[in-house]
Amino acid sequence: MDSFYITTPIYYVNAKPHLGHAYTTIVADSLNRFHKLMGKDTYFLTGTDEHGDKIVKAAEANNQSPQEYVDTISALFRNLWPDLQCEHNDFIRTTEPRHVKVVQDILQKVYDKGDIYFGEYGGHYCYGCERFYTEKELVDGKCPDHLTEPEYISEKNYFFKMGKYQDWLKQHILNNPDFIRPEQYRNEVLSLLESGALEDLCISRPKSRLTWGIELPFDKDYVTYVWFDALINYISAIGYPEDEKFKEFWPVVNHLVAKDILKPHAVFWPTMLKAAEIEPYQNLNVHGYWLIKDTKMSKSLGNVVEPLKMKDTYGINAFRYFLLREMSFGQDSSFSEEALVGRLNADLANDLGNLFNRTLSMTHKYFGGVVPSPMDEEIEDVEIKKLGQQAMHTYQEEFAKLRFPRALEGLWELVRGLNKYIDTTAPWALFKEKNMDRLSTVMYVLLENMRKIAVHVWPVIPEASEEMLEQLGIQFDPRKFVLTKEPDVWGLLESGTEVAKSSNLFPRVELPEPQPVAKNGNGKAVKTSDGKKAGKEEGDEFIEFEDFQKLDLRVGTVLTVERHPDADRLLLVRVDLGEDEPRQVVAGLAEFFSPEDLEGRQVVVVANLKPRKLRKQVSQGMILAIKTEEGMELLTSSAEVINGSKVS
Ligand code: ME8
Ligand code: MG
Repeated sequence: MDSFYITTPIYYVNAKPHLGHAYTTIVADSLNRFHKLMGKDTYFLTGTDEHGDKIVKAAEANNQSPQEYVDTISALFRNLWPDLQCEHNDFIRTTEPRHVKVVQDILQKVYDKGDIYFGEYGGHYCYGCERFYTEKELVDGKCPDHLTEPEYISEKNYFFKMGKYQDWLKQHILNNPDFIRPEQYRNEVLSLLESGALEDLCISRPKSRLTWGIELPFDKDYVTYVWFDALINYISAIGYPEDEKFKEFWPVVNHLVAKDILKPHAVFWPTMLKAAEIEPYQNLNVHGYWLIKDTKMSKSLGNVVEPLKMKDTYGINAFRYFLLREMSFGQDSSFSEEALVGRLNADLANDLGNLFNRTLSMTHKYFGGVVPSPMDEEIEDVEIKKLGQQAMHTYQEEFAKLRFPRALEGLWELVRGLNKYIDTTAPWALFKEKNMDRLSTVMYVLLENMRKIAVHVWPVIPEASEEMLEQLGIQFDPRKFVLTKEPDVWGLLESGTEVAKSSNLFPRVELPEPQPVAKNGNGKAVKTSDGKKAGKEEGDEFIEFEDFQKLDLRVGTVLTVERHPDADRLLLVRVDLGEDEPRQVVAGLAEFFSPEDLEGRQVVVVANLKPRKLRKQVSQGMILAIKTEEGMELLTSSAEVINGSKVS
């Protein structure tokens, strides 16, 4: 059996995950699913990068120890992936012992070999990138990525003889055209290697300056430079050097990164592997940036889009489909909600959604919801089947090359072709004429093609794919579907299968209200930087829809109630909001309700109110109530609902 191994960068835990991280991980997941469906044994690795100055700084700013801090943020990443339907096999953290051991083994090996030496170095250091910059690389004296001035640092350190492997690396890239792809990045690396001698790489930090790192096995006064540590995750996670996983998956590894970390992956990493006598990786796949209004989205610039918000607003299928369909792999792409809504409405609601809904309801109307047996084929059937074959071949070829927009566009030719096929064969007319033989064939051609489409989109929109198959009466199992056979087989959908009555997987959505705009003295519209109105204006009595959306109102059941030890008016209410643990809410309800009045009731809680202390007791939310003449009434649901249900 062929194997496939895909990795994402291990993300820095100095801030919450954003759209850029979501993109890379969703692409990795889609590729992993694609190759699984192509019949391969696959492995998908992601994780977090937890050492270095940058993390220490972020922890300090947050008044936490580095360990506490990395535990919290790493969990945010780990918990996000299942919500985005990314099914990784492993999640590695560079603070784990299994990783630390491999890093130290490799350092020792390279040191013993004589490829690491002690020396003095001064350079422009960017804390954001965790690396030194040469004068040449700076733009107006600033880091091109973070737009901040680097600090000049000079100290004694250990160096890896990277320059020694420059010629080997160049030759390896020349001999293996796919080693770095797409080609623009291969060319970029080649010209870097040709532009002059590679400097040796500083791979240590003195403990006097930084202790949060992996200690050098040959000098306890130093820790490892974060990049020399981080890159090794790709092999430590799969049990280098002895584990079967390492033997199976390392030869077929595909790294996935954005262009911000091209150099570490294209130059540091292969030379490190060479020095450690490990085979180079198979492919480095490099994508561009998601931009917001022409600027890179990044945590340091503070213009990030939150993936969960997109998922909650538009659904996971639309979000994943949009990311893959919109960005040409390798190029930058602009993110906007308008573009997302446009794609959702056009490709998913109109094209794919309609095809399913029309065909399923016709199957019910004409055949009682049962897949009919096809009879003789006519020319339009032969043609649409040919179109389908072509579309699926294109999809598979392009997907394997990471050309997702082309792959999806190819498949959508079939989706649109089938909608046209409905219009030209006009099943309603055949039904009226009682031409049931012809009608059977037409409906079968539609349903069998829909089955094929549903299977093909599984890597991109797994949830919708599985629902579509279920609507066609098919239980999805990735081991049962062999994508490679799909273009050329016909008739796997069994006649007699019962299908769903209708399908509403991709309802159309409206764009959110436009951003608020204020007027200046000339009557011209001006937008303030945070999108809020500049001054008091007419209309200020209204809030925007987005303002309302910021409120996370949830229904929960009151479990227990106690009186506040130090405040007569306050109650300590423990509410089950369907989370792992109940929340404590400090509520000013004691004058109106006894604990017994409240226990067992469902209440509405502002769940995302910043926790605060009221008379030394933490309050994690607010219970909504109504002031009346007599006193106070609680806001509640007209029928019992599941705890944690959202009020919208
Ligand atoms: O660099 N557009 O971690 P990181 C697209 N820890 N992708 C983006 C993006 C954007 N605007 N912003 C971030 C590190 N990404 C190191 C990696 S690997 C051994 C160590 C994605 O948290 C993209 O995948 O800064 C990019 O390469 C990665 O996040 C950088 O994540
Ligand atoms: Mg970064």
